[in-house]
Amino acid sequence: MEEWISIGYLLSAALFIFGLKKLGHPKTAPFGNQLGALGMLVAVVTTVISMQVQGNANWELIIAGLVVGSLIGYWLAVRVEMTGMPELVAMFNGFGGAASALVALSEVQKYMDGGDIPTGLQLTVTMVAAGLSALVGWMTLTGSLLAMYKLKGGVEIFGKWIRTPTWGPTWLNPVKVLLFLSVLVMIYLSIEEPTNETYLWGIIGVSCLLGLVLVLPIGGADMPVVVSLLNSLSGIAAAFTGFIIGNSVLIIAGSLVGASGLILTFIMCKAMNRTLLDVLFKSFGGNGEKQTLTRTKVGSDADEVAMMLDGAQKVIIVPGYGMAVSQCQHQVKEFADLMREKFGTEIKYAIHPVAGRMPGHMNVLLAEANVPYEQLIEMDEINSEFPDCDVALVIGANDTTNPAARTDEGPLAGMPIINADAARTVVIIKRSLSVGYAGVDNDLFYMDKTMMLFGDGKVMMSGLNTAVKEI
Ligand code: TAP
Repeated sequence: MEEWISIGYLLSAALFIFGLKKLGHPKTAPFGNQLGALGMLVAVVTTVISMQVQGNANWELIIAGLVVGSLIGYWLAVRVEMTGMPELVAMFNGFGGAASALVALSEVQKYMDGGDIPTGLQLTVTMVAAGLSALVGWMTLTGSLLAMYKLKGGVEIFGKWIRTPTWGPTWLNPVKVLLFLSVLVMIYLSIEEPTNETYLWGIIGVSCLLGLVLVLPIGGADMPVVVSLLNSLSGIAAAFTGFIIGNSVLIIAGSLVGASGLILTFIMCKAMNRTLLDVLFKSFGGNGEKQTLTRTKVGSDADEVAMMLDGAQKVIIVPGYGMAVSQCQHQVKEFADLMREKFGTEIKYAIHPVAGRMPGHMNVLLAEANVPYEQLIEMDEINSEFPDCDVALVIGANDTTNPAARTDEGPLAGMPIINADAARTVVIIKRSLSVGYAGVDNDLFYMDKTMMLFGDGKVMMSGLNTAVKEI
């Protein structure tokens, strides 16, 4: 039977790895997701059988957990709006971290309840792994819940200081280091006294606080980095717990999440032109204030824009968060097809790595509208093409096109942007002149060559398509 259990774990680990590989392309990603889910099912069933074999199974409870968890997961997944995905992902990260920390806690609790305490190296390894799992797991829970509120625009819930708080990094940084060191000291002391509950609850409490102070000063355009970092931490917590309970598949799955999350974190840091240490300790998020708008701009209408588009040879579409909100990706695809058919226009899409509210947000939406993947061009590659482009059509993108990022000041400082301002004419579709996620006014709106089409993305794109058809 032992061999079958090992084979079960091996199969689920293989499913996780193949699933991850398939997630690398929008076309194969849904299948990758299903492989991952199947891997998780195989892992749970194998664990139940393994516990049965060892004679300590309470399988009714596990199956009940599986059913309740699946129902809640299904309900959340079908209900969530595309724009609410980042918050859902942040919440999943937090619960993942907490689940691992709870398993680690239950193992250590056995010692308090009079269970056999290992000795020597085994005790050290168990207590260090349990302590680190608690540190990372509880920190991930509180950090993720705070990140979720920030992504939701928690302004209404706790006041503006929660979204992009003014808590200066100068005095908060030593606090973070102090809290971290105190957890390490408590882990060390818990090896000496494994039955002392004070250390256990001390580690949990301080870790929860650490999660909050780590995420508190981060805001604005740096949120993608913190969300992917928390995702990675939830995996690392699972891997530590795998060591404590001797479960190989938990170690493998946790390491996969930890490593892939870390890779994504560094990709996001590169996209923001920051180091991870800068994000964590320099508080680029700004002071939470949205810039007040003092300038005005007269809007254009769909007919005027369609006339200007007549005969355009090259149009680059720059999608942003507003496209996700208005769900106008199908109208955008229709526009591209129309322009190609009517004027033989070359159409490309410029994809900024942090456009929208989650990694790959624009790719997923455009893939849903059957835009060929080859037409989606990454920022670094497409930026040099803007000077030769007749029209840059910006749809609900703001921060990712804001020239203020080229300066040294403000929440966007240093972030590479899509060079839409280099196109011969710029058309921007959004409802008003209001600021984007980072709260910074955008000079692009006020340039002489910029035409603003004020209104909801879907309504404006439908109007533009009608106007182009009528030419
Ligand atoms: P944003 O800077 O957030 O701007 C989006 C714009 O869309 C807004 O200015 C808004 O203007 C417009 N909009 C909203 N609803 C609309 C609708 N129904 N129709 C038309 N327009 C609408 O978008 P971006 O350029 O994509 O930049 C993303 C920002 O989010 C970056 O700062 C990034 O760092 C941050 N962020 C990204 C992620 C990830 S992982 N991608 C995660 C968290 C945060 P109006 O109100 O005037 O319409």
